[in-house]
Amino acid sequence: MKHVQVGNTKLAVYTGGEQGYPLLLVHGFPLDHTIWRAQIDFFIDHCRVIAPDLRGFGGSDVTPGVVSMEQMADDLSNLLGALDVREKVIICGLSMGGYVGWQFWKKHRHKVLAMIACDTRAVADSAEAAAGRRRMAASVLAEGPAAASSVMMPRMFAPDTYQTRPELVRQVQEMMERQTPAGIAAAAEGLAAREDVRDLLPTIDVPTLVVVGQHDSISTVDEMRKIADAIPDALWVDVPQAGHLAIVENPAVVNEAIAEFITL
Ligand code: MLT
Repeated sequence: MKHVQVGNTKLAVYTGGEQGYPLLLVHGFPLDHTIWRAQIDFFIDHCRVIAPDLRGFGGSDVTPGVVSMEQMADDLSNLLGALDVREKVIICGLSMGGYVGWQFWKKHRHKVLAMIACDTRAVADSAEAAAGRRRMAASVLAEGPAAASSVMMPRMFAPDTYQTRPELVRQVQEMMERQTPAGIAAAAEGLAAREDVRDLLPTIDVPTLVVVGQHDSISTVDEMRKIADAIPDALWVDVPQAGHLAIVENPAVVNEAIAEFITL
């Protein structure tokens, strides 16, 4: 891991691989770059992998208050500058990382070669969902990260995954619970305030792959199908035996789809 000064903050970032396209892997909430382990291991021989911890997560600095999706996208743009990545990148975002990806497209599209949207959404939170996020932010600050993991964990996996892969479930729970309360709360506030980006989708004129776990209960297959339909010529894969965290539940299918998309 490197620690890179990016504007007013310092981000931790894993970089590896020496050839191929730059592949920027953007994690979800409340996780860190290690959620991409199976993709890092697979793509390191084919791509230059860049897997940061977003502001407030993993080894990156925490900015208390509200961290917007736009701020995280600006951080990524500045990070690429600091790493001297001059080529366009393939940006691959999981869930919150996908929300950041839409903002990256909005503000920094000249840096985008292609997009991969994994188990993510384009709509904003309903008033009720936003209120729930803000309650979560307050309880995390009062009680610690378990107040977030107890809300998020039941929605992460396909029903079968909970039954058959307790070790994987435990690892993800531990990942959530090692994040800082201030980092989780600031991102939760940013999630609550994020904008609806459905109007942005038809402007995406780079190759795009949409990936969804067949049992995703947060960003459902129907909702992601609408995202794919709104993006010109988007490619689509729905992943069996997987829920919201398809990238860890069925990495073989996800990696193969991404590999084919970027034609290794
Ligand atoms: C994530 O995986 O990043 C979260 O589920 C995003 C969300 O709660 O909207």
